[in-house]
This record gives sequence, structure tokens and C-alpha cells, in this order.
Amino acid sequence: MNLTMEDIVIGILGGTGDQGKGLAFRFSQVGYRVIVGSRSEERATAAAAEIGHGVQGMTNHDTARNAQIVIAAVPWEGHGELLSALAPELVGKIVVDCVNPLGFDSRGAYPLPVAEGSAAQQAADLLPGSTVVAAFHHVSAKLLLDPEVKTIDMDALVLGDDREATDLVQNLAARIPGVRGIYAGRLRNAGQVEALTANLVSVNRRYKAHAGLRITDI
Ligand SMILES: NC(=O)c1ccc[n+]([C@@H]2O[C@H](COP(=O)([O-])OP(=O)(O)OC[C@H]3O[C@@H](n4cnc5c(N)ncnc54)[C@H](OP(=O)(O)O)[C@@H]3O)[C@@H](O)[C@H]2O)c1
Repeated sequence: MNLTMEDIVIGILGGTGDQGKGLAFRFSQVGYRVIVGSRSEERATAAAAEIGHGVQGMTNHDTARNAQIVIAAVPWEGHGELLSALAPELVGKIVVDCVNPLGFDSRGAYPLPVAEGSAAQQAADLLPGSTVVAAFHHVSAKLLLDPEVKTIDMDALVLGDDREATDLVQNLAARIPGVRGIYAGRLRNAGQVEALTANLVSVNRRYKAHAGLRITDI
């Protein structure tokens, strides 16, 4: 694919939410061209103006069409429907899935069963013409969004079946100060990574933290 940083436009589906805005803030801050997408053009434009750094706002459809790397940052409930609608626009692109299929009740967060094995595998099934990579499940949107937070102390686990695409997303993750992008296996192993977010939510609640993971010995 041979994308250089100058060529890359990063599009974020659901870029009006905290996770999408946080990633848009960090990637635009280091010089990437970023588009935040929304079901509503007005909400997208407003989110883009809030982030600044030349970020543009468009519908999810136009975001998918105009970006080379497209991050899916929508709630699990809307994931399948949105990606199937955008499948033609996403052909030939890298789709980065950070969606955590979680439920919440009085005992906290818990992983929801997913027929395909994981949100990322659902994306791969729905997008046969795209290269799906799973990443950014554990990074806290609050930390991403906080301009006072200069470095984020964590590793981003990156999973996928295409070496070139996982390398590219690992490098992208490493552009967030403090973060390393660590290859963590094939897409069929994304389910545990998504589910592990429920444990991090428990950690965060008990210790009033925005916890991340570090992989040792590498
Ligand atoms: N928040 C975090 O700290 C965090 C960390 C890691 C991963 N994640 C994952 O990132 C994703 C987004 O998280 P978030 O906290 O930013 O979520 P969010 O604010 O609830 O949703 C993000 C955006 O998705 C759009 N959306 C909502 N429902 C939708 C639907 N049914 N279909 C299509 N679009 C819909 C909305 O944008 P419009 O109304 O403008 O279209 C919304 O602003 C989630 O899957 C989450 O598991 C979040």
C-alpha cells in the first residue's frame, strides 16, 4: 500500500463521540489530516471545530470516501449496520476497529457475546474488500481528549491478518506520545482484547484511574 504520512487522511466514523474526538485530537496534533464523521453533517462540523488543528467534519459516508485509514468509533449497537452501509466506500481501505461490545449493569461492565467472535471479526465479515485491523480498545478517551495530558503511558494492542496494515497502525499508535503499538496476533484473537476492556473498566472504578496496559520484555 506504501502510504506515507503526507498521503494519509484518517477518517473517524462516529468521530463526534469522546473516543473519536480524542483520537482526532491526537492524530491531528502530530500533523495527520483527519476527518471526523457523523450521521449528521452539522454534528461533524461542530466536533471538527471543537478539535481544531484543521480537522474536517463530514457525514460518515463522505468520511469513508475521503480517507485511506478509517477508524470505526461507534457504539457496538450501531457497528454492524453502519459498516454494512459503508462497505462500498471502504473497499481498498484499512479499517481500524476499536469497538468494545460491552454491557453494563449494577455489577459493572461485562463482555457481550458476538456471533462472529468479536466486533473486529464482524467488521471483516461485513467488509470483504477492506483490510480490518483491531486497535485502540484500551486507550481512555478522557486521556486522549485532555490537552494537559502530554503523554499516555500504555501500549496499544494491534491485531490483524495483514502485516503491512498492522505495521502501519502500530506506527500510527506510536505517534501518540507515550504509546507503543504492539502486534498482538491475528484478528481471530480480537475477542479477548475487546472483552479485557471490561476488566479495565473495573480497575478504573476501583482505583479511580484511567488504566492502560503495558506488555513487558519487548
Ligand atoms: N470512550 C472510551 O474511553 C473508549 C475507549 C476505547 C474504545 N472505545 C470504543 O469506541 C467506540 C466509541 O466510544 P464513545 O465513547 O466515543 O461512544 P459514543 O460517544 O457513545 O458514540 C460515538 C458516536 O457514535 C455515533 N453513534 C451513536 N449511536 C450510533 C448508531 N447506532 N449508529 C451509528 N453511529 C452511532 C454518535 O455520533 P453521531 O450521532 O454524530 O452520528 C456518537 O457521537 C465504542 O465502541 C467504544 O467501545 C471507547
